[in-house]
Amino acid sequence: MITVNAIIAKKKAGEKIVSLTAYDFISARILDEAGIDIILVGDSAANVFAGEKTTLPITTEEMLYHTRVVARAVKNGLVIADMPFMSYQVSVESAVYNAGRFLRAGACGVKLEGGAPMIQTVKRLVDLGIPVMGHLGLTPQSVHKFGGYRIQGVGKDASERMLEDAKSLQSAGCFAIVLEKIPKALAKRITSAIEIPTIGIGAGPHCDGQVLVLHDILGLFEEFKPRFVKRYANLAEEIRRAVEQYKKEVQGGIFPDKEHSFD
Ligand code: KIV
Repeated sequence: MITVNAIIAKKKAGEKIVSLTAYDFISARILDEAGIDIILVGDSAANVFAGEKTTLPITTEEMLYHTRVVARAVKNGLVIADMPFMSYQVSVESAVYNAGRFLRAGACGVKLEGGAPMIQTVKRLVDLGIPVMGHLGLTPQSVHKFGGYRIQGVGKDASERMLEDAKSLQSAGCFAIVLEKIPKALAKRITSAIEIPTIGIGAGPHCDGQVLVLHDILGLFEEFKPRFVKRYANLAEEIRRAVEQYKKEVQGGIFPDKEHSFD
């Protein structure tokens, strides 16, 4: 079983960290068998699993359910649960209470979004033995503040602020930080300024690791494809083909045939 310390050690050893999202048992098992280091139960489940426009509607109970089924499947990878909107922002106490529920559901740690406003919360969680992954840049729970999903950390002030946030999250005890949709030069600067790993998504090649949404790389989520997503399969097409073939065979009386029937 990969530990948080093993993830940090990978940066020191110059080994890239590989992460993907999972929300269900079967996918989590496949990812784990493939040796994915960090299996993230992302709140992107709101978008690609539940069809919501943003990550804001997904609840703690729903994320706990996804976490439980993913954790049940994973034997080796590090399962990190995304804390959903308003499960950690209201108070440090409610963050501790909810993070504890995610660990009880089988996660080895939690991820939460934000820099400076989250430092006390991160410190408290880490002090209590709960590993925390930070998340800077395009933090989707702040979509309405950003006015969309545009690139973050552009310009001197914004990039300096993000660098300071990364250093503060490290001092607060985060074991890694996700950097989402920021210029690659800024990701490179942050990566060399801190000792904990940076995990990039749309942050270029210089991060210590990469994370993507599983449904995006498999071509299952077809609504839109961000530029930073590379599709490694076209499963939506494959599923469509199989389902249409099944429909044709049932309608034509071809299925079930002798082989799939009992005497
Ligand atoms: O919710 C999510 O999937 C994420 C990413 C970093 C991919 O936060």
